Amino acid sequence: MALAYFNGNIVDMDDPVIPIEERGHQFGDGVYEVIRFYQGKPFMMREHLERLYTSAKAIRLEIGKQQNELETLMLELAAKSGLENADLYMQATRGVAPRNHLFPKCPASISITVKPSRELPQDVRKQGVQVVLLPDERWQNCYIKSLNLLPNILAKQEAFEQGCFEAVLVRDGFIMEGSSTNMFIVKDGKVQTTPLSNYILAGITRLAVKRIAEELQVPFVEKPFTPEELLQADEVFLTSTTSEVLAVTSADGRQIGSGCPGPVTRKLYEHFQLKVK
Ligand code: PDD
Repeated sequence: MALAYFNGNIVDMDDPVIPIEERGHQFGDGVYEVIRFYQGKPFMMREHLERLYTSAKAIRLEIGKQQNELETLMLELAAKSGLENADLYMQATRGVAPRNHLFPKCPASISITVKPSRELPQDVRKQGVQVVLLPDERWQNCYIKSLNLLPNILAKQEAFEQGCFEAVLVRDGFIMEGSSTNMFIVKDGKVQTTPLSNYILAGITRLAVKRIAEELQVPFVEKPFTPEELLQADEVFLTSTTSEVLAVTSADGRQIGSGCPGPVTRKLYEHFQLKVK
């Protein structure tokens, strides 16, 4: 059963628990994480929590709980939900205070939901997805997993309205990442992805894929690439907690490689499944 948590209490998913003057609601003043549970076990939870504390520090937000306390809380909530395969979303905001841009001195507010994982339909996975390239209109601190997602949701909506699964964001002539995913190309057997910087989120699935590529001795390079290189790639794929490893078979209406999920993508996906199942 899906469940929700707000500042110490388990609540009903649709209980109106967020006060009007909550800063996540009024300013998007907070950070978040998404952790997936497979067969009741969290995948790379420590890495997700480390990223959460990095995000919080970057916005000068005191979470008010130690990493191990938060871990225990998340494990308890996931267990209580009884869900085997679940997505846990956690938001930490700068709490409740009369509206003012200046930071209040008040405890962080923590909300968590645990819901059944959204599995992608098998035919989507088999066929791969389409993407559209759009300008990256976000700020300079995309390594922070901030609740301010307006440019991301506008790009994703635009992609959806063009019949695509994802918007691939381009900044200064280079591919950064998707609106909620990291992007990879495969050329001549080499996997290439955008290097980590303040312009992209350090994806946990990206890290999992990097480790898998190393184990399989598949060459893995972190080097910027252009839209043209993406269109000329043998394979393209994206990664995220919710999409895992997903083949991209067309971009801006142009077919990529054979137009089907390629062998390197499939191998990485299969090995990813071995890690989580
Ligand atoms: N999105 N880039 C962006 C901008 C993201 O929002 C995400 C995650 C990723 C992939 O990160 P990870 O592999 O750690 O999930 C990359 C999550 C899933 C979300 O917003 O729901």
